Amino acid sequence: MSETLERWGSKRAFILAVTGAAVGLGNIWRFPYVAGENGGAAFLLIYVAFVLLLGIPVMMAEILIGRAGRRGPMQALGVLASEAGASRHWRWLGLFGAFTVFCILSFYSVVSGWSIEFLVASVNGNFNGASAAEIGAGFEAFLANPGLLIFNHSLFLFMTMTVVAAGVAKGLERLNNLLMPLLYGLLLLLAIYATTTSGFGTALSWLFLPSFEDVTAEVVLHAMGHAFFTLAVGACALMAYGAYMPDEQSLPKAAFAVAVLDISVALLAGIAIFSVVFAQGMDPADGPGLMFVTLPIAFSELPWGSFWLSVFFLLLLLATWTSAINLAEPMVATLQGLGWRRSTATAAVALSVWLIGLLSAFSFSTLAEFRPLFGRNVFELVSSIPPDIFLPMGGLLIAIFAAWVMPQARVISALDAGERGYLLWRTTIRWVSIPLTFIVLLGGLL
Ligand code: TRP
Repeated sequence: MSETLERWGSKRAFILAVTGAAVGLGNIWRFPYVAGENGGAAFLLIYVAFVLLLGIPVMMAEILIGRAGRRGPMQALGVLASEAGASRHWRWLGLFGAFTVFCILSFYSVVSGWSIEFLVASVNGNFNGASAAEIGAGFEAFLANPGLLIFNHSLFLFMTMTVVAAGVAKGLERLNNLLMPLLYGLLLLLAIYATTTSGFGTALSWLFLPSFEDVTAEVVLHAMGHAFFTLAVGACALMAYGAYMPDEQSLPKAAFAVAVLDISVALLAGIAIFSVVFAQGMDPADGPGLMFVTLPIAFSELPWGSFWLSVFFLLLLLATWTSAINLAEPMVATLQGLGWRRSTATAAVALSVWLIGLLSAFSFSTLAEFRPLFGRNVFELVSSIPPDIFLPMGGLLIAIFAAWVMPQARVISALDAGERGYLLWRTTIRWVSIPLTFIVLLGGLL
């Protein structure tokens, strides 16, 4: 099986594929609202620290396992564990990852569907001349309409699974090449526009002047979960991409490049969004609607507003598309490794994600008060527990596997960073990343 596996066309294609996985709703939608709910600057600082101390080393661990195993996550873990004389039970980690991305994709697809709706609305000029209050009310009305949410969720999932069925390495390369520079450019423009709004100064101090009184164990846990989520680390999804990595490519360079791009996209989005939030006297802790309400307001005041807003939602949609493809890949690769045909595996994943996604779609209306756990409804559960708890747990196990279990000769060749690079990585992951993840998880859970 390993011989027939596809490969990314080039080093650049691999970096773009991982960036495509990393940059998505996490940066533009989730970061601003989670930062908003967790006090702003202190959250940002902790999250950036986690990206550096945990995110990057664990990302390397995850990709190198895939690269060394050259199989679907479950199979790669099983083979490498046997090789090291360790228990083959390590392969269940692949299944845990598949379960995690399953939960995540179920809400991710619903929220990405919102971008489809907003794209259509902005192309139609529906936000032209609308007041902030009207835009806010329009969003509420939209959420209360499960039929519309389900329609867009279905459409988005269909788009995603079509690419996955074709094989990610082929379909994704061209899309990423075009998309990433465009999205970046537009966010830059938006951030520049933000400097002209009256909320800009407040936004900057809110984002960059931390006050640590409000930092609780929970805030730290959210920041860690978000670091994993935004880098697409901890669910064996990048492991699946690592399996298609070219033979000659240094992993640390790729990981750093991705992390820098990923953080800067979040910062640009944060500056743009919070400037509007403060200019309009809105509440940063407004929750999941934050971006969907603020950006239409910002654009509605700009010349050519509808046009730019349409471009923005188009790019956002494409960015979430490349992330969702990455979310689906480990599930499909795992089933494929169990002997399923790729087409059957894709169909099975699509159908089950679609069904569970309905629960998230209904969480804004019919099922809003259906709160099966911790007083949270299904959308609130799947958008918090898998990112905040499952990803760090998965990341912890992935790190332990690469740093302590795998034959280190295999690690050295898959990391492709030279002797010093390897030792630096190993020291960091063994003595910083692993203990830190463990402590924060424990602290957050207790
Ligand atoms: N990183 C993506 C975002 O920020 C989401 C994502 C893609 C993801 N693939 C993943 C999250 C794998 C966890 C695991 O939108």
